[in-house]
Amino acid sequence: MIKYDIYLIYFEVTLLTFTPMAEDLKILQTTDKAAQYQSLLPQIEALLHGEPDLTANLANMAAALKEQFKWFWVGFYLVKENQLVLGPFQGPVACTRIGMGKGVCGAAWQQSKTLIVPDVEAFPGHIACSSLSQSEIVVPLFNNGKVVGVLDVDSEALDQFDETDALYLEELVKLINF
Ligand code: SME
Repeated sequence: MIKYDIYLIYFEVTLLTFTPMAEDLKILQTTDKAAQYQSLLPQIEALLHGEPDLTANLANMAAALKEQFKWFWVGFYLVKENQLVLGPFQGPVACTRIGMGKGVCGAAWQQSKTLIVPDVEAFPGHIACSSLSQSEIVVPLFNNGKVVGVLDVDSEALDQFDETDALYLEELVKLINF
């Protein structure tokens, strides 16, 4: 019996040592945006698989996006008591609370749709958490048809987001379970 236990422990230790970690992210070196998203989608799906914790999943999704795309800022705001409150993100410190209809995030929340902003200076009411941000995309997160938060991505360059980003980011946020 003891002998079998020892074998079992050995087997488990071997597995723990040699099983590749799910946390390894393969970064695709290409300028093809769709290809980058296609490489990332199944990897993020695997990262989130079986993990029910919302904070953990949002944190890993933000980190994976930041690693692949090297954006200036990528993160989440979650609806709490009728405000958007800062959630897990990657990048410089950011504004903590945004009202309904305020800035790009609040507008995407109010309109329940993805907003692409090629030049933040040209967006009335844009909230400049950082003066370095020049273009932005905000994708609403839905739960039972209601907006429960937004994914916000900022770039230091103008005109960095388009329909390809909207398409894939909308697919990505569907992986989040609330
Ligand atoms: N620019 C956003 C505010 C959030 S930060 O960019 C992280 C907006 O106008 O809603």
